[in-house]
Amino acid sequence: MSNFYLTTPIYYVNDAPHIGHAYTTVTADAVARWHRLLGDDVTFLTGTDEHGLKVQRVAEANGVTPLEWADGTAQRFVDTWASLNIANDDFIRTTEPRHYRAVSKLLQACYDAGDIELRKYKGLYSVADEAYVSADEVADLEARGRQVIELEEENYFFKLSKFEQPLLDYYEANPEFVTPAIRRNEALGFIRQGLQDFSMSRTSISWGIPLPWDAAHVTYVWFDALANYLTAAGYADDAEKFEKTWPAIHVIGKDILRFHCVYWPAMLMSAGIELPKSVKVHGFLLVGGEKMSKTSLNQIAPKDLVEDFGVDGFRYHFLRNQNFGPDGDFSYEGMVDRYNADLANNFGNLLNRVAAVVAKKCGGIGPAPVQDSDFAALAEEVYTAAAQAWEDFAPAVALEQTWRLIRDANAALEKVEPWKKDPGPEVDAVLGDSLEVLRLVCVLAYPALPEACSEAWTRIGLPGTPTDTQLPEAARWGGYPGGVPVTKGASLFPRVKRDA
Ligand code: MSP
Repeated sequence: MSNFYLTTPIYYVNDAPHIGHAYTTVTADAVARWHRLLGDDVTFLTGTDEHGLKVQRVAEANGVTPLEWADGTAQRFVDTWASLNIANDDFIRTTEPRHYRAVSKLLQACYDAGDIELRKYKGLYSVADEAYVSADEVADLEARGRQVIELEEENYFFKLSKFEQPLLDYYEANPEFVTPAIRRNEALGFIRQGLQDFSMSRTSISWGIPLPWDAAHVTYVWFDALANYLTAAGYADDAEKFEKTWPAIHVIGKDILRFHCVYWPAMLMSAGIELPKSVKVHGFLLVGGEKMSKTSLNQIAPKDLVEDFGVDGFRYHFLRNQNFGPDGDFSYEGMVDRYNADLANNFGNLLNRVAAVVAKKCGGIGPAPVQDSDFAALAEEVYTAAAQAWEDFAPAVALEQTWRLIRDANAALEKVEPWKKDPGPEVDAVLGDSLEVLRLVCVLAYPALPEACSEAWTRIGLPGTPTDTQLPEAARWGGYPGGVPVTKGASLFPRVKRDA
């Protein structure tokens, strides 16, 4: 069984969860579910990023402690993920004691390695970005409503410059470290420009994790946040678990590439920890051509879409419609069209009509598929392509491939028209093949549509859920036993109108 430790970024508690966050988390969840079907030992982690000046300020403004504030806002993410059927194995909050222990251990390791040093620093600091900025960035930041203040501090610096060559060497030796290639090149370009040491502690802020050797300083939020991936793997507390779980595969948006693809590997090198297996970087989900943000008031809450499309309809859309990698524009109309075409008219319709015809022509007992059916070759082709796509973090491609089976099964039914024929071998053959296609789709589309696939699985008379099977065996043509009851039920994906 191979280990598969997958992480999402940890989300800022100050933001309300929106479909951009959900896009990352649903993608990672689907990939994690695929790997569970393969029998891998999956640990899927998500969580919240709770320290820093922004949280401290908002808490003060609301008259509560930062922790009280974070407790309430972190819960919104926990609830949102539960409502989207996210099966994370752990939820990390950076305010947890286990995280303090891990950050302290990581800091100490970098300090002991001689890579952290005290220096004086005066600079312009963007509060919203939690980062020092250069003078020429100020006008643009302020125009976007982001406050820039002058901070003078005695700071500890992480000697990032020392890792320029080791990082370049690592990228060279590990071409798959960052994907897609365009993001790898972006990271490389940044490293080649020359790396500056960065300030990794603050005295002006109290809401954070104190440095183990100098408690007057708290850890810079990004240093703190990145360490979450180690914390949850047991870095500070459980050597055996850590050995088994680490290294991770990180799923991130392109906005935090520099932190994950430059700072983070350097920090790990300094501490003598193995680097992540890879970093998978996706583009932005745009609304009306713009990135969602509080200031542009264009954030969409997942629950508003779940009300119209259901949990699976929501998950399917972002997995199928948004290619992993480039930016993509979200539109409600596009979502309705995709949902009606793929789910209501294709998958849902196949299940409904097969159940109806089996009831009418086969006394409600599903016939077995034809072992040497034409579908057998297609099933093999689809599995090979879909498996590769999931492996490559390309759910849209995996689902597109899987839907070939559904389309062909619907076409075969339309050609034979078993509803017009007398019961007999021809009717049994096309229905048996359709039921086998449904069984295969229930397994292959399970990562995207866990509820619908489990329901369809039961309706075609199979025991348990698709998770009781294992890939690749479960994808082989001919697994549907036949002779089991097929039940009709309410439409899995009721059609949605464009003006809903
Ligand atoms: N807290 C940091 C991450 C620390 S990880 C050690 C942070 N949080 S965030 O909440 O602002 O955003 C995190 C991630 O949310 C992004 O990297 C991205 O994966 C996702 N998205 C937020 N808005 C998004 C879009 N509009 N589109 C796609 N993904 C987006 O940065």
